[in-house]
Amino acid sequence: MITLRDVHYTYPGETAAALHGVTLEIAEGEICALVGPNGAGKSTLCYTIGGFVPHYYHGELRGEVIVDGRNTVEHPLGELVKHTGLVFHNPLNQISGARFTVREELAFGLENLGVPRGAMLARIEQVLDQVGIAHLAERSPFELSGGQQQRVALASILVMGPRVLLLDEPTSQLDPLGTKEVFAAIKALSRSGVTVVLAEHKPELIAEFADRVVVLHQGQVWQQGPPRAVLADPGLDEIGVSVSRYTQAARAGLERGVWPVEQPLPVTLDEAVAGFGGAAHSGNPASEAARRGER
Ligand SMILES: Nc1ncnc2c1ncn2[C@@H]1O[C@H](COP(=O)(O)OP(=O)(O)OP(=O)(O)O)[C@@H](O)[C@H]1O
Ligand SMILES: [Mg+2]
Repeated sequence: MITLRDVHYTYPGETAAALHGVTLEIAEGEICALVGPNGAGKSTLCYTIGGFVPHYYHGELRGEVIVDGRNTVEHPLGELVKHTGLVFHNPLNQISGARFTVREELAFGLENLGVPRGAMLARIEQVLDQVGIAHLAERSPFELSGGQQQRVALASILVMGPRVLLLDEPTSQLDPLGTKEVFAAIKALSRSGVTVVLAEHKPELIAEFADRVVVLHQGQVWQQGPPRAVLADPGLDEIGVSVSRYTQAARAGLERGVWPVEQPLPVTLDEAVAGFGGAAHSGNPASEAARRGER
């Protein structure tokens, strides 16, 4: 669904490349998480897949970017955005400012596409529910909290029905419950065949929701693979990527002899419980002592 071949990109006026030889293949319906330290190129990669590079951010682009069969360089941004939706990190970049209410905001893009009114209203109601903001439909987008604005920004993209969804830290301003809700909605979309690329810092969420993790470092693909294989990699700390609290707990457990040496480090809560549970019953003296409450 998404193919990048040896992509190099440098922002206008910069000397260092923000993307440096990125080659990636992302399948239809996949959820691909992008992680990496600040400045690694996660947002830039989203802009590149979405066609904002090079149509909005000019600079120098080399290599090939093909999304849903279209070479992004050869199609205008106005056409690309009908198929590929990008939710910017800052929701205020998404809100048009041309409309008074959230419902009208969601109508904005559809009106531009000439969607008939009845179909448009039904579609808006569906997306309002999907993203959990039906109760905000008559509010001004500007009087909402940051987290609510993030949901509106996501809804304004989903309403267009994109086949490819690019999400740049879509829940950075949401609380844990709101974050879970939004991720559940994203998972449901991917099950219906939408391809998702997600820049995200929260390893617990990536482990639960992503099919694949791509680690970017200094504009290059540093590592990629299934969350379980990538997220417990000790090298992540060295490049400044946070590991999940479950991995941290197991590392500490390993040092204290309460995590089984042969067990791979966990990236999810379930794996951590299984590992610590196993240790508690394995006859490991330290864990036996811990179980009896001794120090
Ligand atoms: N508009 C821009 N003009 C010039 N350089 C930019 C621009 N946006 C980003 N950069 C540079 O490109 C590189 C990659 O930045 P990018 O924002 O893609 O990283 P990121 O992984 O999204 O970081 P963060 O975790 O902070 O969001 C950095 O060196 C950054 O300074
Ligand atoms: Mg970014």
